[in-house]
Amino acid sequence: MFENAKTAFLFGGIFMFVVAYLWEGYLPLSHLNEMKVETMEELTADVLPEFEELAEVYPKEFKEYYGEPTSEAMAEALILGKKVYTQEACWHCHSQFIRPVSNEATRYGPVSLAKEYSNEMNYPHLFGTRRVGPDLIRENGKHSNDWHVAHFYNPQMVVPVSVMPAYVWLYDETVDPPVPNKKGMAIITYVQWLGSWLNKDGNKLNNTGKAPLADEIETETDKKLAELQNGDSK
Ligand code: HEC
Repeated sequence: MFENAKTAFLFGGIFMFVVAYLWEGYLPLSHLNEMKVETMEELTADVLPEFEELAEVYPKEFKEYYGEPTSEAMAEALILGKKVYTQEACWHCHSQFIRPVSNEATRYGPVSLAKEYSNEMNYPHLFGTRRVGPDLIRENGKHSNDWHVAHFYNPQMVVPVSVMPAYVWLYDETVDPPVPNKKGMAIITYVQWLGSWLNKDGNKLNNTGKAPLADEIETETDKKLAELQNGDSK
């Protein structure tokens, strides 16, 4: 009897191992192999207006760090920006993933889709683990470059209650006012790039440019708001 139980557990274990291997290993891989991975050249084919703006506002420094605002220069800034993001542990406080729960789409924008991460910049991705600060995957265009320049230098200057640390070492402090250095320009380019694929032609995710759930959520929220405003919420 005991012998039989042991054998049953052994085969059960082997069986579950095989199932797990197929489910978690083979199945995703067979799909991922067919997925197109966007290259750096494709990602930077259109130069971000925010990157060009850095070249206009800080012509001398920009020239020294990146030369002209070309696709190659932008690729360099993005790679360095991502490096700064990991080095400074920004991912400790920020996520880069909009989940289809808790009305996140209403706050942050379209729910994230797998194909958005299928590019060289997201290998490996930086989903993050928790949110002390807001999610950043739709950061593009939420704030101007100037805002970021002030914010990274001293977050409390623009958001008095902020608990985000200051990153003064991303600036050249020998000039007044301080100007973002090479890493500073890179991190601004990087956060401005996050989500820029949506704003570029508005419908890269799907035909409406919104996540499947966003419309429903908005309608529900609008309805509730209208009810409250009309005072007939009971
Ligand atoms: C200790 C946690 C913490 C760390 C570390 C941190 N942040 Fe933040 N961040 C916050 C909080 C909280 C906010 C919201 C208040 C504010 O805007 O300052 C924020 C806001 C932001 C915003 C503005 C978001 C928006 O849409 O308004 C950006 C961009 C940002 N952080 C980028 C970064 C980057 C890049 C780094 C790393 C260099 C970083 N953060 C490190 C906590 C953090």
